[in-house]
Amino acid sequence: MNNFEFKNPTKIIFGKDTIEKLTTEIPDNAKVLLLYGSGSIKKNGIYEQVKKALKSVVVIEFGGIPANPEYAVLMEALKIIKEQNITFLLAVGGGSVIDGTKFLSSAALYKGDTPWDILTSNTPTTKGMPFGTVLTLPATGSEMNSGAVITRKDTQEKLAMGGPGLFPIFSILDPQVIQSIPERQLVNGITDAFMHVLEQYMTYPAGAYLQDRFAEGILQTLIEIAPKVIDDPSNYIAASNFMWCCTMALNGLIQKGVPTDWAVHAIGHELTALYGIDHARTLAIIAPSHYKYNFEAKKQKLSQYAERIWNINEGSTDDKANAAIEKTEEFFNKLGINTKLSQYTGDYEGTAQKISGRFTERGWLGLGEHKTLTPSDVEKIVAMAY
Ligand code: NZQ
Ligand code: ZN
Repeated sequence: MNNFEFKNPTKIIFGKDTIEKLTTEIPDNAKVLLLYGSGSIKKNGIYEQVKKALKSVVVIEFGGIPANPEYAVLMEALKIIKEQNITFLLAVGGGSVIDGTKFLSSAALYKGDTPWDILTSNTPTTKGMPFGTVLTLPATGSEMNSGAVITRKDTQEKLAMGGPGLFPIFSILDPQVIQSIPERQLVNGITDAFMHVLEQYMTYPAGAYLQDRFAEGILQTLIEIAPKVIDDPSNYIAASNFMWCCTMALNGLIQKGVPTDWAVHAIGHELTALYGIDHARTLAIIAPSHYKYNFEAKKQKLSQYAERIWNINEGSTDDKANAAIEKTEEFFNKLGINTKLSQYTGDYEGTAQKISGRFTERGWLGLGEHKTLTPSDVEKIVAMAY
């Protein structure tokens, strides 16, 4: 096991009817900016619950943060934060609203001229404006981590940011919110969380037995609850396990003391930036090719995953590892998620070169757990996913 430090300061308030607890979590003298997305919260009753709980504080609202939070829209919210002397941000939404809020938390205290530099400079945010979240969509884990991904349409970019100053102060997780989530987003959430675990697990053995078992526990639980959640989103047992899996998959715990990959996400973000493909689906497109391309480096863990998750116990290490890649693709397909780029766009020729060119320009010359995947490797992985 590698050396590590672990600190996660986010307070989680989990369970039925917990949105009302907002009342005691927000400082009395706060001037709150309530941030939300394209309006689902106004149809499913979450907005009313939030407003009721915020009765005793000053609240200004900003709606319209789109899926894949857009820089230009967030800059409008930043103007309001400055003009209205906002002191506390409250995100009510999924990963997009929460990530947008993290960007604003950082941008509100940023001293430079152009807040976009926060994303291009790779400088961690050590202090942001305080914020809390009410999670409406289990998927990203953003409710308990300090990362965010922001999109810029005019340049077709999607870049990550983060830092120890960007953990939510609190996050309210009421699993009942999943009842109104469309199936497309439910399966995206399951897939995203599954891939978060694999990015931190599918590397090489590092003697971290407990982290492996944590990761495997999340994968097994996601496989178990997936059909139940899709079949009946009002099944509270399935919903609560789904929600907690998504949070635990990316709150920092399972990555401590182990090597991590994240190449699938780095490549996947480009597919969203270029084609607008849902985040989780980009991961399902790239992962099978990535694991096949890096087979030798990953086959020990692939084989362990085959045995422990898919009960594949026959054959050589190579046989089991190959079967595990197939099982993973089959799992995504059964959820209704296509795993080839050509199933999403007819305009895919040249994508591999374009993405590898962007990585070269940005100086992303060594991805993956060994930091050895070059832009030319990335080009081959993307081409395999056509
Ligand atoms: O816009 P609203 O009205 O909120 O509707 C959303 C949106 O249309 C809807 N939705 C959310 N909760 C709902 C609901 N509809 C009905 N009932 C509810 N209770 O679902 C749609 C998708 O929402 P979005 O927030 O975009 O989805 P998700 O949570 O999957 O977030 C995706 C974003 O997070 C980033 C992705 O790149 C993407 O931009 N990620 C963030 C990460 C992080 N911060 O740690 C890690 C991830 O790997 C990922 O990159
Ligand atoms: Zn993800």
